Amino acid sequence: MVMFSTTTQMANGTNLHLENLFLSSIQPLTKSISRSKEEVNKAIESAKTAQKLWAKTPLWKRAELLHKAAAILKEHKAPIAECLVKEIAKPAKDAVTEVVRSGDLVSYCAEEGVRVLGEGKFLVSDSFPGNERTKYCLTSKIPLGVVLAIPPFNYPVNLAVSKIAPALISGNSIVLKPPTQGAVAALHMVHCFHLAGFPKGLISCVTGKGSEIGDFLTMHPDVNCISFTGGDTGIAISKKSAMIPLQMELGGKDACIVLEDADLDLVAANIVKGGFSYSGQRCTAVKVALVMKSVADTLVKKINDKVAKLTVGPPEDDCDITPVVTESSANFIEELVKDAKEKGATFCQEYKRKGNLIWPLLLDNVGANMRIAREEPFGPVLPVIRINSVEEGILHCNSSNFGLQGCVFTKDINKAMLVSDAMETGTVQINSAPARGPDHFPFQGLKDSGIGSQGITNSINMMTKVKTTIINLP
Ligand code: G3H
Repeated sequence: MVMFSTTTQMANGTNLHLENLFLSSIQPLTKSISRSKEEVNKAIESAKTAQKLWAKTPLWKRAELLHKAAAILKEHKAPIAECLVKEIAKPAKDAVTEVVRSGDLVSYCAEEGVRVLGEGKFLVSDSFPGNERTKYCLTSKIPLGVVLAIPPFNYPVNLAVSKIAPALISGNSIVLKPPTQGAVAALHMVHCFHLAGFPKGLISCVTGKGSEIGDFLTMHPDVNCISFTGGDTGIAISKKSAMIPLQMELGGKDACIVLEDADLDLVAANIVKGGFSYSGQRCTAVKVALVMKSVADTLVKKINDKVAKLTVGPPEDDCDITPVVTESSANFIEELVKDAKEKGATFCQEYKRKGNLIWPLLLDNVGANMRIAREEPFGPVLPVIRINSVEEGILHCNSSNFGLQGCVFTKDINKAMLVSDAMETGTVQINSAPARGPDHFPFQGLKDSGIGSQGITNSINMMTKVKTTIINLP
């Protein structure tokens, strides 16, 4: 039986026709697919209607359904991971990890929601000057309405549920616009929520190209909150959207500052993992290493030894480096590499590309005049800038228009704290590569890296409003 079929373009450039991919318990998803403006309107209308009832559903019941969805999601980790492998060339093991991590996120969110939303405040008026004890104020958290969730291609499941779960536990409805690459995995994930028994219309999935339906969705008068992860588009959305809460994560140029006393084996392991996992297609990837000159030769050698061991090839074989998501991404990465070549960077490996597959490349002696020093390749190419002082590293990091995460490696915690304070990024990791998880940690970017803070608790708070009721005594 063909449960669901679609044609999707894969990272290696070929078209994949997916048929009968899902387990037999999964029903067709055609009702969730909207493309025309009329269909988008319908999805938002249903979400608006369903939300009213959902907001009145007891909190424990909402949590119960989320726990159920989490379990179903984990049960279906194999077919969903298969979609991730085929659609976005995520290495097989990482694809499974993404689904399991997503199930855990949904469960944690259900538990946290019960705690955060289950309590309010009680204030009395006579604590403010000039007032008698004649007013009692009760606060609670109420939902916003319809939340529009727009996750990126690199985590079509995890960065979708990180928006869906907090929205639902808070009593909101969801309209999900999945990424073009990764849409099938996202549809399957949404279907797990449907199987859990969430009310009809509460969770809709609107597929289509951002360029075609993006503005219509983000400027829709019935959307009450937008949670977006992606690139520059987020800046445009924030300029065009109405007066609604926005949560945005828009990429980064995460710097890794390496001091002279750092454990260089630890640094090399973290730079390779941080810079090259999922072929560098993570907003938290290490995107520039700023290394003290005195230790640079030793560190570069250690990194190169590890780069040589990275496997390159198809995601099905669980290779470390797999094709990047589109041809245009590969072309962009190549532009940065060519620019670095022309301007004299040292190529630690030969530049090699086959279709969308780009071999891992470490560029040493990168100068500030090279594009790779400032731009985000979102690919397996990592620049090393040799610095004379910590201040020089901090200056380079802070001159970026991005400010997502950064990291510093040193054995001296006092120095690490000083560097952390000085780095203009939403998070600084001490002695580890940047990363968003664990998913309940706050996650935020400064400057062009975003607005608002994510992480489970922050997302729940962001997707609610405070409501007060005041009892006036005679
Ligand atoms: O690509 C952006 C993600 O938020 C990064 O998440 O650190 O778990 O890979 P990650």
